[in-house]
Amino acid sequence: MSDHPTSDRSPALIEFSDVAMTFRDTTRSFRAIEGLSLSIPRGQFCCVVGPSGCGKSTLLNMVAGLLEPTRGEVRYDGRTVTGANTRVGYVTQKDNLLPWRTVRANVRLPLEVRGLGKAETDRRTDEVLDLVGLAGFGDAYPRQLSGGMRKRVTLARTLVYEPEVILADEPFGALDSQLRTVLQGELLDLRSRTDATVLFITHDLGEAIALGDRVLVMSARPSRVLLDEPVELPQPRDVFSARFAPEYARLHETLWAALSPEVESGVSA
Ligand SMILES: Nc1ncnc2c1ncn2[C@@H]1O[C@H](COP(=O)(O)OP(=O)(O)O)[C@@H](O)[C@H]1O
Ligand SMILES: [Mg+2]
Repeated sequence: MSDHPTSDRSPALIEFSDVAMTFRDTTRSFRAIEGLSLSIPRGQFCCVVGPSGCGKSTLLNMVAGLLEPTRGEVRYDGRTVTGANTRVGYVTQKDNLLPWRTVRANVRLPLEVRGLGKAETDRRTDEVLDLVGLAGFGDAYPRQLSGGMRKRVTLARTLVYEPEVILADEPFGALDSQLRTVLQGELLDLRSRTDATVLFITHDLGEAIALGDRVLVMSARPSRVLLDEPVELPQPRDVFSARFAPEYARLHETLWAALSPEVESGVSA
């Protein structure tokens, strides 16, 4: 039996039905997403790859309730998402740290908002700062940090309250490869401990396969799901050794065959 439920046995936690998203300004309209249907069961780690500008961040913004689709419906746990979805933790592509708060004060903010006691808030904040390798930087301000460090603060701020769903938008993109491997492992650990559902955007196919239970390839605009492949590597998984499995190579080839023409059409558009 699989550790993680499939859509046959449990209802979807996140569901897109025939979603379209068109952005309009005064002079033109711009179709980012069209006819997107997608169902993500509770507990799944779902990775999304696609050419730049195809609507991946838009997808997450809709689950977080920051954007409403122009057509179709996004449902969360059976209900249409309207307004901010507080059950998800969102590691956004651009960090949105509060510049007047220190690193520690930024990370503890979600726990303060939830009214957690000071001792427990301090303990969890220190634990998560340590986890992302920022133990010595709690008193620094965001402006004093590199881009990669700010990204780690954003990640810590999401992990600290162990949300039911983690939306992650290229969270490891700016990190060096050693730290990236460590944090990938930590994310898999966290996920197996908490059974969080993860919707994870990456431009790195290898990362998508090493982490995901499933990989979706999005098409160039107007974007839809082009390929939807399960990752048949056992969980719990070691991100290092996953890359040497025959399944990894096979899947990489299949996914790249679908993705590369989309990337090229995006470049020439
Ligand atoms: N608020 C917005 N207003 C107008 N256009 C937008 C807005 N958000 C995104 N877009 C456009 O929609 C497309 C998809 O954006 P995005 O989801 O950020 O792509 P990705 O994350 O895949 O790179 C892009 O071409 C972007 O310029
Ligand atoms: Mg994006």
